[in-house]
Amino acid sequence: MTKQFNKNIILGISGGIAAYKSANLVRALIKAGANVRVCMTDAATKFITPLTFQALSGNPVHTDLLDSHAEAAMGHIELARWADSIIIAPASADIMARLAHGMANDLLSTLCLATEAPLYLAPAMNRVMWENAATQANLHLLLQRDIQILGPDDGEQACGEIGTGRMLEPDEILARLLHSESEQIKQQPLHGKHVLLTAGPTREAIDPVRYISNRSSGKMGYSIAIAARDLGAKVTVISGPVSISAPQKIDIIKVESAAQMYAATLAAAKYADIFVATAAVSDYSTKEFFSKKIKKSDENFQLVLQQNADILSDTSHQFTDLFTVGFAAETHDLITYARNKLERKKLDMIVANPVGEGKGFDQDTNQLEIIWADGQLSLPEKNKQTLAYELMDIIVEQYFKKQKTHSD
Ligand code: CTP
Repeated sequence: MTKQFNKNIILGISGGIAAYKSANLVRALIKAGANVRVCMTDAATKFITPLTFQALSGNPVHTDLLDSHAEAAMGHIELARWADSIIIAPASADIMARLAHGMANDLLSTLCLATEAPLYLAPAMNRVMWENAATQANLHLLLQRDIQILGPDDGEQACGEIGTGRMLEPDEILARLLHSESEQIKQQPLHGKHVLLTAGPTREAIDPVRYISNRSSGKMGYSIAIAARDLGAKVTVISGPVSISAPQKIDIIKVESAAQMYAATLAAAKYADIFVATAAVSDYSTKEFFSKKIKKSDENFQLVLQQNADILSDTSHQFTDLFTVGFAAETHDLITYARNKLERKKLDMIVANPVGEGKGFDQDTNQLEIIWADGQLSLPEKNKQTLAYELMDIIVEQYFKKQKTHSD
């Protein structure tokens, strides 16, 4: 069978008789290509043993939030990050209530709170419990938060009653997951594409304790990386030293100097479809590195600098199929300089932003002027993440336009 579901899945199992069906769900998910890790609530282990799921999934089963041994192997945060999707089947009335109210009083509920992955619940409970106003109110809250509810089904229940509350059959759960994933892919135009970015400042060492750098915080670059990720792209950021934390599901390659950023970018560019150069690369580095700390001596001290290679320009000239986007941070004559860089560096697009007098660097907001061969668009001052989403939409549009022109 061809792989249909090449994803990391956490299968959460809460306490309910339908837990026995989850054994088949593990098999169905693995057969469809998924890597499955099972997390059971305490109540679930009373219905079916963790050993069953360990044997079926080929992975240790996660049960305990406060187990130092398990935390040392793959801690709950690491596990929450690992998951591409979390599916809880069966989802009892109790786990629905706990998730609806943001509780984190066992491993499964903590994982759900700590993940950015989509969450799916396949409810299973007695029909009266399902119809109870409390469960329905919890369901409403969960749906409002885009948690996807698969089922429940109608029919005969383990308790002997007939009504709504049966867990969907494993094949049906899998079919709905696959459908939902393919709908998401349709909304992710960059699915299957690789976006490469440079971000942050560079540091050019003078001696073991001193360097030349700039005020770039990396915020704009990291915001664009998040926007590209949310549009479905695989994202790699070649990042200079920044203090912001790494966003989830983005590969960060840390570098210090312009030369290191150059090498890392050119190596990664051959796998990329779109390259966005947001880094504030130092134009110069010291000609000589002083291996010992420079001591104070004469009144004047001269440092000889040499020009660094242009990462963006060399990348765009070497990888002509790559859609290249440059940034132009300018204190004056914004459009003129930006247009000049668009042509000189052979770019598909340039994003100009004013800097200085409290603008641009190390700020939460920015304003952008986006220029390409036959178009121009202004994005007025907004927070950097909103701007990043709007900019990525324009990049996507122009990228596909270029692809189409090339294939015509
Ligand atoms: N850039 C780069 N490598 C360099 C210098 C700049 O990749 N060595 C990229 C930046 O990431 C940015 C764009 O080129 O996307 C423009 O950077 P900027 O510093 O404004 O341009 P320069 O070519 O350095 O021009 P100038 O300093 O004269 O403004």
